[in-house]
Amino acid sequence: MKLLKKNTELRGSARQNSSLPHKCGVPGRGGTLHLCGRAGRQKKSLLHSFRASALVGIGVGLGLLLSAVTQWPGVVEMRAGAEEKPTRSIGVTNAPSVPSTISGLLPDQSHAMVDVGYHFANLWFAADKENWPLAKYYLEETRSHLNWAVRFHPVRTTKAGAEVDLKGILQAIDNSLLTEIDRAIANKDEAKFKAAYRQTLEGCYACHTACEKPFLRPQVPTAPSVTILNFDPNATWPQ
Ligand code: HEC
Repeated sequence: MKLLKKNTELRGSARQNSSLPHKCGVPGRGGTLHLCGRAGRQKKSLLHSFRASALVGIGVGLGLLLSAVTQWPGVVEMRAGAEEKPTRSIGVTNAPSVPSTISGLLPDQSHAMVDVGYHFANLWFAADKENWPLAKYYLEETRSHLNWAVRFHPVRTTKAGAEVDLKGILQAIDNSLLTEIDRAIANKDEAKFKAAYRQTLEGCYACHTACEKPFLRPQVPTAPSVTILNFDPNATWPQ
């Protein structure tokens, strides 16, 4: 999902002023494919050159080809005729293949669990900084991603043929351990939070071992998964 989102950027481009000389882009990375039939071309601005990896005058088909050639998941601009009309940009993906079934398009359980790990790790640092609204946010994200993960495989079968009821295990964890974390956050109780967090890690691991994956052993994280967010509740910038 994330990958797809990353590669499928939809952007609108600004209307070009027809009195200005036409600016034309050359895709980067040493590629010098240049397809523009207009006179009055100028060296385009750096900004523009980053925004559009390929400018094509003859349609999307060639645009796709270009994008494949330059190996850039960039934006292909379509230009309609000689008149300066508002231009339209479309995003293209450079995905190697298109899965034929809908299940091929969905992330799998381990993908959802990576998200669980991401949110749950950040939760530790939010509480550590006593940023309780952020901690509450990450707890809710952890919960919803755990539910999402379990929806992929509500039941797993062990090698011996026994059925592991993941949904049931998660419900138990949610009702006890995660609820305990929730309470600690509500009470802004760091000591209780840390105890409940560690217990929850044991709960996580209980499910991993039940699923015959004892090598997926969680620990108290040593660094947050995100650095672009400021965990300091007293930060004053940006306003
Ligand atoms: C209900 C069962 C269950 C619970 C509860 C559970 N997990 Fe998982 N988790 C799994 C399964 C099953 C996998 C392996 C998925 C796969 O291989 O498709 C997994 C895999 C993972 C992975 C590895 C993802 C990867 O591929 O790199 C992480 C990280 C993880 N879990 C974190 C957690 C954390 C943190 C918790 C507790 C907050 C937790 N899990 C709770 C079942 C569970």
